This record gives sequence, C-alpha cells and structure tokens, in this order.
Amino acid sequence: MTDRYAVIGNPIGHSKSPLIHAAFAQATGQDIQYTAIEGPLDGFRHTVDTFAAAGGCGINVTIPFKMQALEIATDPMESAQLAGAANALKFEGGRVFAQNFDGLGLVNDIQRNLGVSLAGKRVLICGAGGATRGAVLPIAAQKPALIAVANRSADKAHALRADFARHVNLQTGGYGELVGESFDVVLNATSTGLSQDELPLPEGVYAAGALAYDLVYGKGLTPFLRQAQVRGVCHIADGVGMLVEQAAEAFEWWRGVRPDTKPVIARFTVPLV
Ligand code: ATR
Repeated sequence: MTDRYAVIGNPIGHSKSPLIHAAFAQATGQDIQYTAIEGPLDGFRHTVDTFAAAGGCGINVTIPFKMQALEIATDPMESAQLAGAANALKFEGGRVFAQNFDGLGLVNDIQRNLGVSLAGKRVLICGAGGATRGAVLPIAAQKPALIAVANRSADKAHALRADFARHVNLQTGGYGELVGESFDVVLNATSTGLSQDELPLPEGVYAAGALAYDLVYGKGLTPFLRQAQVRGVCHIADGVGMLVEQAAEAFEWWRGVRPDTKPVIARFTVPLV
C-alpha cells in the first residue's frame, strides 16, 4: 500500500516539498504519496490528528506551525526540544515523534555541498528568531571557533544566549557591536530575505574568502546577498540546498533510505542575480 506523507503550513501554495519528496521517492523506488495541506490557523492539531488517523505516516511542518508541532509531540527528539520547534513528525503506534531538521540541513549544505568546513571558523548568525534557534546547536556541533548572534533588537539575541547557555557559549548583541570584527561564515536567518531591507552590517564584517549564506530560497539575489557581493564576497548562496537537505533528513527518518540531494538541488536552484 502507498504510504502517505504531507507538508502542512499556511500559506502552503509556494511549498516545493511535494516535488522534492516525489523526486526522492522516484530516485529511491519508494512507494509514497506526498501532498500539501493548508492547515487552518486555528486547527493545526485537528488537521494533523485527522491525517494520522486516516493512515498518514509522517508530516513536514512549516510556517506558522513549527512551535505547535513540538507541542503536540508525544516524543520530541532532542533537536526539536532545543530548537523549541519541530519541522517533521512521524506517527507510529499512536505516538507522535518530532524532529527539527532545519539546522542539520543547513550544516550539511554548507559543509557537503558548498565545501566549507565550519570547524575552527568564526560564524555570524544574523537574526534571533526561530530559524536561528534551529541552527545554533547543529553549527556548534561542528566546533567553530566562535558563534556570534546579532539581532536588530539586541535583547532578543541576549535572551537566546541565555536559553542556550547550558549547551554553547554564544556572543550576542546588536549589529553595531560587530564593528572591528570579521567572520568566515555569515548567515542571514532574519526574514529580510522576504523584504527589501538590508541589514546594517558594518564594513569589514566579511573575512577574506568568507561565505555569505541567506537561509531563504528562490528569491535570487536578496538584499543581504547583494550587499555581500558589493563588498567583494565571491562565495554567496541561498537556502535551496538547506531546503533539500532537511527534506532528505526527513525522508531518511521516515523511509530508512538516504536520497541523493545533488540532482534535486540542481533542479530547484534559481540563479543569484
Ligand atoms: P523566523 O522564525 O523565520 O526566524 P521570527 O522568529 O519572526 O522568524 O524572527 C525574524 C527575525 O528577523 C528576527 O530576528 C527579526 O529581528 P527582531 O527580533 O529585531 O524583530 C529579524 N528581522 C525581521 N525584519 C528585519 C529587518 N527589517 N531588519 C533586521 N532584522 C529583521
């Protein structure tokens, strides 16, 4: 029988997940159906319960339900607990297992696909919201020299530092406090990729040979990436690889088979112009 999976979000029309998972299934010979569900804003739990009760095996969760996804889990995995959010659920024997693969997807993309090792590097994460919370520990696991988190409101960055203090020592503050510092990897985990706002990053924030990475995908040259390019950064990337890598983690978790991500990333890559 065909096993059923889905992605749930609101809105969901833009989601590439059904196409990505269909490509994985075809390449690995897995008999699955993967659909997109627009979850009602006041009915996330009911929608998920209905899907699981009808035989659904697992579900990906996107904006704005990632925190609720963690709340409904009977068995949250450590990645989801520490991120405070889940992006993948698995239904098994009446239990709901929850994972957060966003950060691992990001790290896999940076290291495996872009060829940048994080070990010993100075890493700057811009933004202190959910995307940053998911990224911090998978990055820390690679043993960078430093993880700095800068945010428009410095207080939110400091709060994040306190929440993670048991696991990692973060340097936190506002953008102005970055004057005089430079980084090997600069990540944009703010939502500015979806608007036209540029981040007030000081000149000199990029070390020689640095990578500038925007976690959004399919937006071409975002204001963050454009700013990096203008400042002479040659290595720029958006989050298409992260999207496909987190999908691959979920696929393997559900199906026990690791799909090849390279052809799928190539298919969904939008030129950065
Ligand atoms: P997500 O879950 O995608 O991380 P979020 O939790 O709403 O979304 O966080 C959005 C992040 O983008 C925050 O760090 C926010 O900064 P503030 O905490 O100061 O609001 C950041 N952000 C959004 N718009 C921004 C802008 N125009 N300039 C700088 N940072 C911005």
